[in-house]
Amino acid sequence: MSELAGKIALITGAASGIGLATSELMAAAGATVVMADLDQEAGNNAAASVERSGGRAVFHRLDVRDAQACSALVESVVERFGHLDVAFNNAGISGSTSLTEDQGLELWQRVLDVNLTGVFHCLVPQLRAMRAAGKGAIVNTASIAGTGGAAGAAAYSASKHGVIGLTRTAALEYAKHGIRINAVCPGYIETPMTVGDRSIFTGPHLDRAVSAAPMRRLGRPQEIAEMVLWLCSDRSSYVTGGQHIVDGGVTASC
Ligand SMILES: NC(=O)c1ccc[n+]([C@@H]2O[C@H](COP(=O)([O-])OP(=O)(O)OC[C@H]3O[C@@H](n4cnc5c(N)ncnc54)[C@H](O)[C@@H]3O)[C@@H](O)[C@H]2O)c1
Repeated sequence: MSELAGKIALITGAASGIGLATSELMAAAGATVVMADLDQEAGNNAAASVERSGGRAVFHRLDVRDAQACSALVESVVERFGHLDVAFNNAGISGSTSLTEDQGLELWQRVLDVNLTGVFHCLVPQLRAMRAAGKGAIVNTASIAGTGGAAGAAAYSASKHGVIGLTRTAALEYAKHGIRINAVCPGYIETPMTVGDRSIFTGPHLDRAVSAAPMRRLGRPQEIAEMVLWLCSDRSSYVTGGQHIVDGGVTASC
């Protein structure tokens, strides 16, 4: 598998879950992966583990809420490697669950700052770098909560709807510059966000989600990574502006 041989890929939220699985898969497909995350220790360990498996990876600590840091990272990638071919803007947080009237402005702002403005902060310098090169592929992580409502998660759902709007608009603007921009919309995936210490689900909540799912299981992070790899490879050369649902059929019912 060498779909990304010689390519430079930048992945945010790369220390854990979907970002880590995608870093592993892209490195196995031949890319040099710049893994960025807020969590320095987990990020260093993650990059070391990709390298131990024979991939090429470097870790950079990044807070996607910091616009300047996002621009500086993209610039440093282009300076060091000469080009940026692929970007996966994936860092995200879930917030907590409550009725919309109880979400509160602090939670709303915190979730929007990371999930939506964080994607914007990364996307802008990536578009500039890729426009100069006349090519590139970008995937932004939305969610099935970005294609429909998610009771108890108003801020999260609004942020992910925003990611889809931003993705579609950028796709329209940059198609003529050779840049494809897509959103991936995971369903319930087994990561620290759903089953670990960052989980917003209580046991019964998650059990209900699993038993309502057509496949009766959570998705694996690698199953999202496969879609992201395809969207970033030349195999999807006519695909842009899409919202690509990977949810084991959860949103298929009427
Ligand atoms: N797990 C799911 O069921 C699911 C479903 C739909 C969408 N998603 C989305 O997938 C993405 C990845 O989530 P995951 O499930 O792998 O969760 P995760 O918690 O395992 O990973 C998220 C990563 O983002 C990093 N991060 C958080 N805030 C950051 C910031 N300000 N700057 C840089 N990095 C930051 C965290 O340190 C962590 O490593 C998120 O955008 C999430 O909303 C997840």
